[in-house]
Amino acid sequence: MNTPPRACIVTGSASGIGAATVLALAAAGYHTVGLDLNTDGAQRVAMQAELEYPGTRHDGLLCDVAEEAQVVAAFHHAHEFLGSLDALVTSAGVVDTTPFMDISVEQFRRIHDVNVVGTWLCMREAAKVMKPGATICAVASIAGLRGGGLSGTAAYASSKGGVIALAKNAARVLAAQGIRVNTVSPGATETPMIAKPLSNPAHRQRIENLAAQQRIGRAEEIASGIVYLLSAQASFTHGANLVIDGGILMP
Ligand SMILES: NC(=O)c1ccc[n+]([C@@H]2O[C@H](COP(=O)([O-])OP(=O)(O)OC[C@H]3O[C@@H](n4cnc5c(N)ncnc54)[C@H](O)[C@@H]3O)[C@@H](O)[C@H]2O)c1
Repeated sequence: MNTPPRACIVTGSASGIGAATVLALAAAGYHTVGLDLNTDGAQRVAMQAELEYPGTRHDGLLCDVAEEAQVVAAFHHAHEFLGSLDALVTSAGVVDTTPFMDISVEQFRRIHDVNVVGTWLCMREAAKVMKPGATICAVASIAGLRGGGLSGTAAYASSKGGVIALAKNAARVLAAQGIRVNTVSPGATETPMIAKPLSNPAHRQRIENLAAQQRIGRAEEIASGIVYLLSAQASFTHGANLVIDGGILMP
């Protein structure tokens, strides 16, 4: 458990929290493969990590995490590139802001397919090749704890509640294999995902006012929590959900 993991797959690596995580992991000496629907973006981030952190190797591959065959193939290629798999970060996710009464069944299912089924598929494929000492960090949201009320609506909140429960179940099951599993739950974070809702000044002000720090977080602030949970410093942290939200959810 004390050897720091060095090879990591990051889903949703082309943008926001996933991209910041690739760069933070590279700074800590990891090699990474990013999986994203946006292949160009994933490869751009991989190239940036290689340029900024010489000696670390990075790649970006096309993968829709909700599609089983694509996940299986992408994990196979990523494992070949990395040579081993010590860590997984599941940051790929989608938000939905359609009001409760208006969202279609198709939209509701797609949010759960990406956020919940996609997270589980990636955990499953990772666990097939991970060795004892490996770690997984899922990216949920405080929406999953407080039932939304920020930018995302019903489907998003319920999917993120699902991710929190899924990661706890994985933490129970995969402990037998020596794999540590934890979750981060970010509050509102400045990324393309919520750029549209935050462009409304009244909405932005309301979200900022919810936090004790009276501000929106930065993707790098979430990434540093993820890197900590993957690290040997967190060796006894298991099945935990680290809330990083500037003080929205304080009891
Ligand atoms: N930004 C926030 O305020 C916030 C708050 C709490 C939780 N989160 C969570 O953090 C994670 C990262 O979000 P972000 O804010 O960085 O958003 P983002 O939109 O900047 O990045 C999400 C990435 O996931 C990729 N993606 C989407 N669907 C995919 C799929 N089916 N397969 C593969 N890749 C896919 C996108 O292409 C994109 O690169 C998400 O799970 C999100 O729900 C974000």
